[in-house]
Amino acid sequence: MTDAHEVLIDHHRLLRTMMRQFDELISAPAPDRRRLLNTLSAEMQIHEQLEDELYYPAVRDLTPLVWLAHAEHRQLEDQLAVVLRTPLDSEPFPDEWRTLVHTLEGHATEEETDMFPEAGAYLDAGKLHTLGQALHTRQAQLRRSRLVQARHWLKRETLRHL
Ligand SMILES: [Fe+2]
Ligand SMILES: [Fe+2]
Repeated sequence: MTDAHEVLIDHHRLLRTMMRQFDELISAPAPDRRRLLNTLSAEMQIHEQLEDELYYPAVRDLTPLVWLAHAEHRQLEDQLAVVLRTPLDSEPFPDEWRTLVHTLEGHATEEETDMFPEAGAYLDAGKLHTLGQALHTRQAQLRRSRLVQARHWLKRETLRHL
C-alpha cells in the first residue's frame, strides 16, 4: 500500500542522503561534486513540484501550515539558485550550502512532525492511498521527462553564468 505521507517521507530521506553524500565528497574532484549537486537540485525541484501540484492542494483546507510551506518552497528555490550559481571552490560556498541544508532540513522536519500528522487526522486510508499513487506516478513521470531534465539543465547553466 502506498500512503501519500510515506511517498513524501521517502523522498525526504533521499534528499537528506544526497545532502550527506555531498558533504562526504568535500575533497572529491569538482566535476563529481557538481554532478551530485545537479542531481540533488533536480530531485529538490521534483519534490517541490509534487507537493505544490498534488499534495498541498489536497490538504489545503485541513491544515493552515500549507500557506507557510508554500512560502518556504519559494525560500528554498531562491537558496538553491544561490548555491547553484556560487562556484564550488569559492569562499562563500560552504556558508551558502549550509544555509540550504538548514532550510531544507527545517522544512522537511516541519512537514513530517506537524503538517503530515495534522492533515492525516482528516484523511482516511483510502484517500491517502489514492493520493500516494498519484504522487508516485507523477514522481516517476517527472524523473523521466526529458523536457523537465532540459529545463533543469537550462536553469542550472543560466544561473552558473549569471
Ligand atoms: Fe515541502
Ligand atoms: Fe516535503
